[in-house]
Amino acid sequence: MKEQDRLEMERQLSQLSEAKKLVTDLTQKLGRRPTACVVTFGCQMNARDSEKISGILAEAGYELTEDEHADFVLYNTCTVRENANLKVYGRLGVLNGYKKKNPHMKIALCGCMMQEEQVVEKLRKSYRFVNLIFGTHNLYRFPELLVSCLSQEDMIIDIWKDTERIVEDLPVRRKYPFKSGVNIMFGCNNFCTYCIVPYVRGRERSREAADILKECRALAADGCKEIMLLGQNVNSYGKNLDEPITFAQLLSQVEEIDGIERIRFMTSHPKDLSPDLIRVMKESSKICRHLHLPLQSGSTEILRRMNRRYTKEQYLELALRIREEIPDIALTTDIIVGFPGETERDIEDTLDVIRQVEYDNAFTFIYSKRSGTPAADYPEQVSESFIQEQFDRVLKLVQDTARKRVARYEGQVMEALIEEVNESSEGLVTGRLSNNTIVHLPGDASLVGSIVPVRLSSCKGFYYLGEKI
Ligand code: SAH
Ligand code: SF4
Ligand code: F3S
Repeated sequence: MKEQDRLEMERQLSQLSEAKKLVTDLTQKLGRRPTACVVTFGCQMNARDSEKISGILAEAGYELTEDEHADFVLYNTCTVRENANLKVYGRLGVLNGYKKKNPHMKIALCGCMMQEEQVVEKLRKSYRFVNLIFGTHNLYRFPELLVSCLSQEDMIIDIWKDTERIVEDLPVRRKYPFKSGVNIMFGCNNFCTYCIVPYVRGRERSREAADILKECRALAADGCKEIMLLGQNVNSYGKNLDEPITFAQLLSQVEEIDGIERIRFMTSHPKDLSPDLIRVMKESSKICRHLHLPLQSGSTEILRRMNRRYTKEQYLELALRIREEIPDIALTTDIIVGFPGETERDIEDTLDVIRQVEYDNAFTFIYSKRSGTPAADYPEQVSESFIQEQFDRVLKLVQDTARKRVARYEGQVMEALIEEVNESSEGLVTGRLSNNTIVHLPGDASLVGSIVPVRLSSCKGFYYLGEKI
């Protein structure tokens, strides 16, 4: 860890002691422990950031809850598509109602949406009841911001354009004791023309391998069995470090850690996926049999205008090579429908790739115009009805192929990590196979966190019903 990062961490830890005092005062005033609720929108990165925020709130003395009637409510926002954005405004209105009934309530907003100027402007004007707004680059300063927020009534807004700092060793409250995300890099340099992430998460920065390994070892010692290495483009990990290291090398080192039984990672950009990575995955007994390989479009022309830097043929060659080298791997993907200028022929190319690769699962999104991205200025030539029609075609094919792929292990026995007691059906628990498929089986809370052999008795579309053997 860099000296400056270490100093900043110490500063925040001392701010955390301050926050503790303020929360103790509040406890006395209320005659009970104040509660805090953290709500996460968006991707795995945000989920991990929320665990950091929750860790700090818990350490400060708050009782964590999932009830938004809490004394401190924080929304960790996403802005990748417009509907993620709209959801937040809608829910803020509801929170305002709660706040009117609880004069001690504080409302905080952070995450990617806060990195957009027009969002903060709107909040400043029309959402005066919000107490604290901060962004993605100064998350590590949350202890300090919490102190300010608890000691004043004014709206606090602290947004940074970027940061060099990587401050990671603050308290964390994991959602699951047996699995955890680990950030290996921040930001993105790819600038796909539709995507807002590089603008709200900043330039790509890799964490030192030694720091990542130290965190993984500490997690293993704390009972964590599964680790998910997180980055917007993990395949370019390590390129800009003082001592360059590849993602494949990092994976091999994580693999050595005793106690870590499963390793996952997100997300892989096809243009940077190395033959070394395929080899390391193939030889590994811990790296899960799942690769998320976003396609976005099957049309070389659309891919060019998306700035994805691969062609249909290059993608197919890569995906089919992975299928051949690691036959039991599950391949999943992201697809965007309705990119400016997309035609039926482009969609045919996308359908063709789906047919050839046979994804185990695919997330299909309708293109959402994000202001500030190059594609937002491309002449719009796609009507809503066209998009809906094409979206339905893509979705149907994806679902038909996925159903077939997922069902191919029916009757077999596979190991599942049991993640939770099934909320909707009594007497069942939910586990995850190495290939990311979900299985429900009879069992109780004592099984949660263990890896058990499960017979995959019957496939119900995208998941299995099974039994422990
Ligand atoms: N870094 C990851 C993706 C992060 S965003 C990668 O490159 O694969 C997750 C997904 O959201 C993307 O894969 C893309 O399919 C989708 N997405 C991003 N911007 C979008 C937009 N403007 N409209 C619709 N979908 C979008
Ligand atoms: Fe967005 Fe592309 Fe970066 Fe993924 S690689 S976060 S899609 S710009
Ligand atoms: Fe959303 Fe930010 Fe992730 S925009 S998808 S939460 S990086």
